[in-house]
Formats: sequence, structure tokens, C-alpha cells
Amino acid sequence: MKWTIAVLPGDGVGPEVTKLAVDVLDSTAKIFNHELNTDYYDIGWSAYKNHGNPLPQETLEGCKSADAVLLGAVGDPRGDELPPELRPERGLLALRKKLGCFANIRPSRLLPCLAKASPLTLETVENTDLVIVRELAGGIYYGEPTGITESGDTAFDTMKYHRDEIVRITRVAFDIAMNRKKKVVSVDKANVLSSSRLWRNTVNEIALEYPEIECSHMFVDRAAMELVMNPQGFDVLLTSNLFGDILSDEAAAVVGSIGLLASASLNEDGGGIFEPVHGSAPDIAGSGSANPLAAILSAAMLVRQTYSLETEASLIEDSVEAVLEAGLRTPDLDRRGPTVGTETIGSAVSHHILQQTL
Ligand code: NAD
Ligand code: IPM
Ligand code: MN
Repeated sequence: MKWTIAVLPGDGVGPEVTKLAVDVLDSTAKIFNHELNTDYYDIGWSAYKNHGNPLPQETLEGCKSADAVLLGAVGDPRGDELPPELRPERGLLALRKKLGCFANIRPSRLLPCLAKASPLTLETVENTDLVIVRELAGGIYYGEPTGITESGDTAFDTMKYHRDEIVRITRVAFDIAMNRKKKVVSVDKANVLSSSRLWRNTVNEIALEYPEIECSHMFVDRAAMELVMNPQGFDVLLTSNLFGDILSDEAAAVVGSIGLLASASLNEDGGGIFEPVHGSAPDIAGSGSANPLAAILSAAMLVRQTYSLETEASLIEDSVEAVLEAGLRTPDLDRRGPTVGTETIGSAVSHHILQQTL
């Protein structure tokens, strides 16, 4: 099969981790006799620097014509000085919107060999295996902002949802749950927000179409607590753009590190952007110590979702598990060490893939 992938390394650790993810795709393609074509484009701060725009037209066109997009991360402290529309983050938000990526799938599973990387006790965290289904194209991220007033003392953003936006993300969450433990917890703030009350009513309506699914609701403050008290209790968490953003970093920490968490941002046609949950990590960029496994696992999601190649995707995931089981750790996974760098752990995954005889 021919794979045509738009690669957007982005900023900070983005290019460092993306390189290893592309190497892994290359090794996987080699061993299964696929042809990998990668086209590289700028996004975020690097795009602003080179083109004066965090999402250049060429990047958007390249992403539209590819089978899928593999993205590193965006963001740079220098972006804080820019007007909102030129910030690096705006490049990613615009790309998601323009590609119609409304469903962000963020799985968190504790690998038994990483139990010590979790800040929680083994008893609390063992068997944690959940998926956050985050609405990605609406809510407060895309509601009307006022900007900061001239007097510099007032600003507001609006959290707006249309029923149709809630319906489509709810169906995605329920469909995922049908292939898992059939348990959906919808997370909102319906005790305070009108948009959350619409959210809750709509989820209840769609739940009637899925009688096998056990559906419940939880306020977001309680969900944040339950995630650290009883992460095993969750199967599928369905939530809005902002709440999903926050809870997914928490879910990442629960299973060991944000350096492990992969995601898929999907549109109606099942195409999309495959991106680690973490950001550009300016505090460690350039040190060669970033964990590339979130990017590599995002590449596995790409292969499964875009090409329906389950064996190839599983081999990538199993190879990640194998190098962790062999004891390799980047610093985020073991504060006391000994640890290895981005290249070492990433190449070990590729090496493991290339060793397979099919
Ligand atoms: P961050 O995810 O970049 O970093 C948070 C912490 O996690 C840092 O201590 C960092 O060193 C660590 N970390 C992140 N990725 C890691 C990895 N692969 N390996 C090891 N450690 C890792 O979040 P932040 O510091 O809040 O934001 C930094 C910049 O990234 C900002 O500009 C922000 O807007 C941007 N951001 C982008 C994305 C994205 O592109 N999807 C996501 C989150 C944040
Ligand atoms: C993420 C990031 C982005 C988001 C930012 C960089 C726009 O935090 O992918 O989780 O908030 O969606
Ligand atoms: Mn985030």
C-alpha cells in the first residue's frame, strides 16, 4: 500500500519526537512492504518565522491532499508577544477546524512495567485503561472572544455548543464504548453552565439509541478528583473541548507521563491529525531527552485509523511496550534514572520492528 503522510514537526520538542515517529513508520512500511511518502510542512512558531503565518496555505493544502497528518507540537515562548491570530497555537486550532477534526481520541492505559512511573499507588492505578473522547471543533475554543479591552481590564470568551456538535461527538464516544467495556461517563458542568445542560440533555437523547451502554454524568470538578482517586472506574470519558484538554493531561500523569499519551483528531471521513497530547516542552527542547513514545504511538493510531492496518499498528504498539519492558526510560518516566535520550529509545522501537520476521 502507498502511504502519503503530511508531516508537521512544529516547534520545540516537536521536530525531535516527530523524527523518531517517522523512522518508526519507515521501519514498519519496510517490513510490511508498504511505500512511505512523507511531505514536510511548517506549522506554529516555525511557520510564523518562515511565512509570517502559523498556518500557511501550503501547509493546509498539503494536509488536505495527504492521507493523514502527523503532527509534533506547536508553541514557543516568543509567541506570547504576538497578536492572538498569529500565535503558534492558532495554527493548530485553525488546522483542526479547516480539516473538520471534531473528535479527539486520547487513550490512557497503564502498562504494567510503568506502574512505578505513576505518582499514584499501584493499587489505585493498576488496570487503568480509559479513553477520553474530547469534542475538538467547538466550545469556548471557537466561541467569540472579545480580546482585552483598550483599558486593559476586561475580556471574555464564549462557550457555545449547537446540539448537532454534541450529537456527533456523543456518537463517536458511544461507538468506541461498544467495542470496550460499554461504559460512558459524560463530563460537564451542568450545575452551572447552560451549554453543559444542553450537552447533558443531548447525551441522554443519544444514549437511548445505545441501550447496551451504561451512560452516566459527572461534573468536571468531581471527574478531576475521580481520575486520581479511582482511574480504573473509567472506560470512556466524553467531554467538551476545554474540559477534555485539561482532563487529558491529568490522565497522562496518572499512567506515567504526558510523554506517552497519543491522540487522533478525526473528521467525519475518519481522516485526521495524529498528534501527541503534549506540547512543545520548551523547558527540555534541544536537550535530546524528550520522550518520543507519544509521537510514535500517535503514528500507530494513524496506521490503524487511516489504512485499517491492525497488524502494523499493533506491531508498533507492541514494540513500544517491548522497549519499556526491556527497561529503557526517558527522564520523564524515571526521575532517579538511569535514563536514555530521545534517539536511543526511539531507535530501539524501530530496531524491534525491523527484527520481526513475518
Ligand atoms: P507541555 O506539554 O509542552 O509540557 C508540560 C511538561 O511536560 C513540561 O515539563 C515538559 O518538559 C513535559 N513534557 C512534555 N512533553 C514531553 C515529552 N515528550 N517528554 C518528556 N517530557 C515532556 O505543556 P506546557 O509547558 O504547558 O506548554 C508549552 C508550549 O506547548 C506552549 O506554547 C503550549 O501552548 C504548547 N502546547 C502545544 C500542544 C500541541 O501542540 N498539541 C499541547 C500542549 C501545549
Ligand atoms: C492540546 C493543546 C492544544 C489544545 C493547544 C496547543 C491549542 O493543549 O492539544 O491539548 O488546547 O487543544
Ligand atoms: Mn492540551
